[in-house]
Amino acid sequence: MKTILITGATGTTGAATLQHLKGKGFNLRAMTRSAEKAAALEKQGVSAVVADYGDAASLSRALEGADRAFLVHTPALEIPKHEKAFIEAAKRAGVEKIVKVSVIGAGPDAPLRLARMHAEAESYLMQSGIAYTILRPHSFMQNLLGNIPTIQGQGAMYSNNGDAKIPLIDARDIGAVAAAALTEEGHDGKIYILTGPAAVTFQEAADAIGQSVGKAVQFVNVPDDAAKQGMMGAGFPEWLADDLVTLNQWGRQVGEQQPSEDVAKVLGRPGHSLEDFARDYAGAFGG
Ligand SMILES: NC(=O)c1ccc[n+]([C@@H]2O[C@H](COP(=O)([O-])OP(=O)(O)OC[C@H]3O[C@@H](n4cnc5c(N)ncnc54)[C@H](OP(=O)(O)O)[C@@H]3O)[C@@H](O)[C@H]2O)c1
Repeated sequence: MKTILITGATGTTGAATLQHLKGKGFNLRAMTRSAEKAAALEKQGVSAVVADYGDAASLSRALEGADRAFLVHTPALEIPKHEKAFIEAAKRAGVEKIVKVSVIGAGPDAPLRLARMHAEAESYLMQSGIAYTILRPHSFMQNLLGNIPTIQGQGAMYSNNGDAKIPLIDARDIGAVAAAALTEEGHDGKIYILTGPAAVTFQEAADAIGQSVGKAVQFVNVPDDAAKQGMMGAGFPEWLADDLVTLNQWGRQVGEQQPSEDVAKVLGRPGHSLEDFARDYAGAFGG
């Protein structure tokens, strides 16, 4: 039986990928930096390994005997260095396939630093000789969970998105696409643009959340600088807050962004709608 290593298994897309890989006839090995989280995964019946992208020896241990891998890195300046280290360790371990989470718009000349860093890691993977599938998702619906404190406290969510219509993706669908790319034929060498099925405004997102929790939620557009300060106050590093403010400025200029069909093509069903997401996460939002 083939073995799949799932990095970032305690995070948003890694956990979703792990969920979708269960029962598909593969040995699954979840990677985390934390011995406590590894023990919790083992308790749920998932084989877990403790490793850190910054520690090459730990990566070699994690990848020993692995045939395929899901590669995700939290948004950080270490993405190129850490993902290259992972790809090198995977080559040494004889891994045959890597599915990497990147970002929509990745490219060497992209205006966002995150998109340039992902482009560098993508290019390294493409030249590694290992079979690959690259997933370039749009903004996750799960980012809306960051608004829980103001939704619960003030019945409001704040950002600088204005009236932009954005095809947010439910990260559960990223996990489903990743699981398909890791276990089915026909995905090697592909780059998938992953969006939700429809472009929505943040007021529509607030309405859907309000509907699911049974109280009105307002979207409040704020100036770019206030949005940046808010993100930094929530713990985002300045470079990432700058990236996200730039992304939202661009979104306002474009107005309506078109959804991609890649999720439906890979899964044979449309991705989750914002209403599905709001209903399924109603408990988290306070419903
Ligand atoms: N959020 C969005 O809207 C969006 C949109 C497009 C693309 N993306 C891309 O998606 C990626 C983030 O995905 P995500 O939200 O699934 O990730 P995440 O939840 O932020 O993090 C994934 C996991 O990475 C692990 N990790 C962190 N540092 C590590 C290290 N040094 N070594 C090993 N593991 C480490 C952590 O697990 P442990 O603590 O258990 O070790 C964490 O749970 C980013 O690359 C971002 O650019 C995000």
